[in-house]
Amino acid sequence: MSIRADITKHPLRGMQVRHYNKLMIRTFDILVAGEINPDLILTGDVTPEFGQVEKLVDSAILTIGSSSAIFACGAARLGLRVAFIGVCGDDTFGRFILDELSGRGVDITNVIVDPTLQTGLSVILSRPIARVQGDRAILTNLGAIDRLRAEQVTDALLQQARHLHIASYFLQTALQPGLPDLFQRAHLLSLTTSLDTNWDPSGAWHALDELLDLVDVFLPNANEAIALTGASTVEVAAEALGRKCGLVAVKLGARGALACRGEEVARANAFPVQVVDTVGAGDSFDAGFLSGWLNGWKLEKALQLGAVCGSLSTRAAGGTSAQPGLDEAIKYVPSAG
Ligand SMILES: Nc1ncnc2c1ncn2[C@@H]1O[C@H](COP(=O)(O)OP(=O)(O)O)[C@@H](O)[C@H]1O
Ligand SMILES: [Mg+2]
Repeated sequence: MSIRADITKHPLRGMQVRHYNKLMIRTFDILVAGEINPDLILTGDVTPEFGQVEKLVDSAILTIGSSSAIFACGAARLGLRVAFIGVCGDDTFGRFILDELSGRGVDITNVIVDPTLQTGLSVILSRPIARVQGDRAILTNLGAIDRLRAEQVTDALLQQARHLHIASYFLQTALQPGLPDLFQRAHLLSLTTSLDTNWDPSGAWHALDELLDLVDVFLPNANEAIALTGASTVEVAAEALGRKCGLVAVKLGARGALACRGEEVARANAFPVQVVDTVGAGDSFDAGFLSGWLNGWKLEKALQLGAVCGSLSTRAAGGTSAQPGLDEAIKYVPSAG
């Protein structure tokens, strides 16, 4: 067994690797390799209808979409130094998303602008939670969303960061085949790794066994954890995943979150807020949790920061507009008092 394999099998492997990467000068705390697209969010109590039926909505906003980009903004908002690599087109939507990301302090130097591709877009029809059972219908034009390849994330770029985060695994089909190698390279260069698969639109939920061995922090929601393990409850799923990847933090919506690290179990409540829109709650949770974890916080406290960041992000439409800064979020973290 190589030295690296030894470290990745250790129950405290994330902390150990982090100890190593602390000794080196890194420009960024987190490198996010992922998909990048705006969301057009239409809010109204309407159902679309073919036959050229025009219906009126209450509001329309063009905002930062995609799990990876929303995560990057949440992490930057918490004060982490964040770099992004992804692919977009040389078009209006691409320029919009790049301006928004850099305006929020995310380094976009490494984003690949490919003039032969269209920037992806999601159109989200959101029914207001106050009026009917809140729900969303989503239409997505993938465009460049699935085009990033693992080899485009070079060692030279990895070396600039302490941690590598990947989201929307199932959407990023070009990234998938090279991801085990990318996580291995990240570990060799002393970065820690995290993964949020998000939902699998194909419904196949192919096993992630090889990949999970290389993930220091796994961040599914309850439905995803159950779908991936075939477990009957989220508790059983979390236990199994906690044994598999060392540390799992499972998001439970309004019920907060649950984390397992070997035998250690932690729970955190959601923070009660007036929910406007839950888009990006999971990504904002990921940003909060990883911020605490990278700071070396105890599991429970990092989980509480994640839950608070997720909850606070639901106060406004879109994934990023209500993401909290650390000064605001920490006020609601019970263990911080
Ligand atoms: N209805 C809600 N009320 C309060 N907090 C919420 C609500 N929905 C989500 N959150 C917060 O956001 C976090 C992540 O949300 P969740 O919906 O579980 O993730 P995902 O978006 O990945 O499905 C939760 O752990 C919780 O802290
Ligand atoms: Mg999610």
